[in-house]
Amino acid sequence: MLELNSIHARYGAITALRGVSINVSQGELVALLGLNGAGKSTTLGCIAGVLKPWQGDILFDGASIAGKSPEQIARLGISLVPEGRDIFSSLTVDENLRLGGYILKEKAEYHRNLDEIFELFPVLKERFQQPGGTLSGGEQQQLAIARALMSSPRLLMLDEPSLGLAPALVDQIFELIDRLHQRGVTILLVEQNVDRSLEIVDRAYLMNTGRIESQGTPQQLRTHADIEGIYMGVKGQSGK
Ligand SMILES: Nc1ncnc2c1ncn2[C@@H]1O[C@H](COP(=O)(O)OP(=O)(O)OP(=O)(O)O)[C@@H](O)[C@H]1O
Ligand SMILES: [Mg+2]
Repeated sequence: MLELNSIHARYGAITALRGVSINVSQGELVALLGLNGAGKSTTLGCIAGVLKPWQGDILFDGASIAGKSPEQIARLGISLVPEGRDIFSSLTVDENLRLGGYILKEKAEYHRNLDEIFELFPVLKERFQQPGGTLSGGEQQQLAIARALMSSPRLLMLDEPSLGLAPALVDQIFELIDRLHQRGVTILLVEQNVDRSLEIVDRAYLMNTGRIESQGTPQQLRTHADIEGIYMGVKGQSGK
């Protein structure tokens, strides 16, 4: 479904990606793991069209999307939940979800998606008319994911959804991702929580300084030396 072929990207003089190749098949849950600054968010940004790779190609269903606008890419069915839950705090839950569904052509699909979201996130139904900013951190993260789901994405990309959440909420978010995967949603997940990610993903890529260092199933990766560095790095972080 998604294929990145040797993507290079830079911010001015800073090279962030040096030949990143990954692929995600329909229905798969794939994680991109790595230390701070490895290039994980940059990779998602290139796929979502917010940053143009200067070399390499990105194929979605076999057609190149590198160079398309974020709007065009969203319409193809790729949805990104960026780092740091960017919901609209002054808008209600209802309004946030409406914005997520704006690309839908049929009203019926909007209502179908909303019903599904109420089933997945009962708290959002309870808080429907409340401003997003009054929700707890975990609830805001649920709203950010729900908003992305409102557009019926074919590929959902989540950038560190568990960041900054209390352990109980982290559990909830991982259970939710697992449930979405079981429902058939194709997901590319960026995470620092290596243990929890490897419990639920089909495959993962380990990234380091703009390159993919290794990849494989959780079982293959757990025995891989590179992953030790990521564990060490995560443990050594004071948390952002
Ligand atoms: N807007 C920007 N301008 C300049 N450099 C940037 C910018 N965004 C990211 N970078 C640099 O690009 C590299 C990759 O950053 P990126 O945000 O992709 O890392 P990451 O793997 O998502 O890290 P984290 O786990 O901390 O979110 C880093 O060295 C970072 O400093
Ligand atoms: Mg990042």
